[in-house]
Amino acid sequence: MTKQGLKIATIGGGSSYTPELIEGFIKRYEELPVRELWLVDIPEGKEKLEIVGALAKRMVKKAGLPIQIFLTMDRRQALRDADFVTTQFRVGLLEARAKDERIPLKYGVLGQETNGPGGLFKGLRTIPVILDICSEMEQMCPNAWLINFTNPAGMVTEAVLRYSSIKKVVGLCNVPIGMEMGVSKLLDVDHSRVSISFAGLNHMVYGLDVFVDGISVKEKLIEMITGADSSPSVQNIVALGWEPQFLKALNVLPCPYHQYYYKTRDMVEKEIKNAETVGTRAEVVKELEAQLFELYRDPELMIKPPQLEKRGGAYYSDAAVRLISSIYNDKRDIQPVNTVNNGAISSLPADSAVEISAVITKDGPKPIAVGDLPIAVRGLVQQIKSFERVAAEAAVTGDYQTALLAMTINPLVASDRIGKQILDEMLIAHRNDLPQFYPSSLR
Ligand code: G6P
Repeated sequence: MTKQGLKIATIGGGSSYTPELIEGFIKRYEELPVRELWLVDIPEGKEKLEIVGALAKRMVKKAGLPIQIFLTMDRRQALRDADFVTTQFRVGLLEARAKDERIPLKYGVLGQETNGPGGLFKGLRTIPVILDICSEMEQMCPNAWLINFTNPAGMVTEAVLRYSSIKKVVGLCNVPIGMEMGVSKLLDVDHSRVSISFAGLNHMVYGLDVFVDGISVKEKLIEMITGADSSPSVQNIVALGWEPQFLKALNVLPCPYHQYYYKTRDMVEKEIKNAETVGTRAEVVKELEAQLFELYRDPELMIKPPQLEKRGGAYYSDAAVRLISSIYNDKRDIQPVNTVNNGAISSLPADSAVEISAVITKDGPKPIAVGDLPIAVRGLVQQIKSFERVAAEAAVTGDYQTALLAMTINPLVASDRIGKQILDEMLIAHRNDLPQFYPSSLR
């Protein structure tokens, strides 16, 4: 890494989330001197890239910083000598997400983009692309760090660790930072005073303990978060509230995505109702995106508009930029990340990706050992890890039976027969984005 200034390449640069990232780089410029930011997208995303890229340039200009922004469709050029590569792309765009959400619902199974069948298919579409990016990084920027935001972030990190030569990879999600912010709001204390010991997997992470100024507040918090209004959530998940006795027995802090596992029937009913009324989340996001891009077009706009907060990725920039800064500055602070387990959670394979609090050094995250997961959550986490591994294998091999296995061992799919029906329908619906499952003659 050159101390004169950093080169960052952001793949999926035309995303509506990009102003978040820019805001983060601007805020931390003093400690993270970014000189070049390359926003890359595919030809289908050219218009969005140009709109959001122009806004990014205006934001940097207003801040008076010497960050140069480049817009390109040439990924290799963007990657050349980059110090950090961030990824935030969506293969098949929101249309594919809408299919991930709608098709399983027809069978009474959760339709969601990172859990259940939707998570499987998002992984099948995304993993081959991320592995291509990894190969290009080996050639163009072998010393760079890959900071992956692309969902399903845990499965994608698992695939990179298992099927690429890239070792400098960190998967990132805004759920843990969102949980910290939720706790600080509930207890009315500054975020800097809250710390949560995270352990588990992406969108399957638990707060094993929660501290304010070093004193555990877990029990108090568990009493407080049972109501629908008080349980910390994200914009894309409706909080239904928790059964107080259950939470006490669980005795750890669940993440918003755990509702899909502990309240499956309620959540499926809710999703079906939403799909019939306001539309699935992809359909809602499509409208939100159209409104956001209308705002982004305005040449007078020079900041991240507050409307972006209606998206689920709140605090995304904070999470991304504080991580990059801690690696660059060897800060050795503690942050929740997706990284190789290395024995930190003894209930999970040492070579698998886990989401865990880790000390962030210039050599990457060093996970803080927690030993075994509590028995109350251990089995579910292990099951999801098996699902992620089998799904990653299916994504790489394009093997039908492996995909069926992944589908059926997912705890949200309660029948092999229905699992196969969903798999078959989704394989057809996504055929253009799943070349590994189709010889070119059939595409
Ligand atoms: C959450 C998740 C992210 C996800 C996002 C979706 O915060 O942690 O992984 O990408 O929500 O938000 P959206 O606005 O696209 O539904």
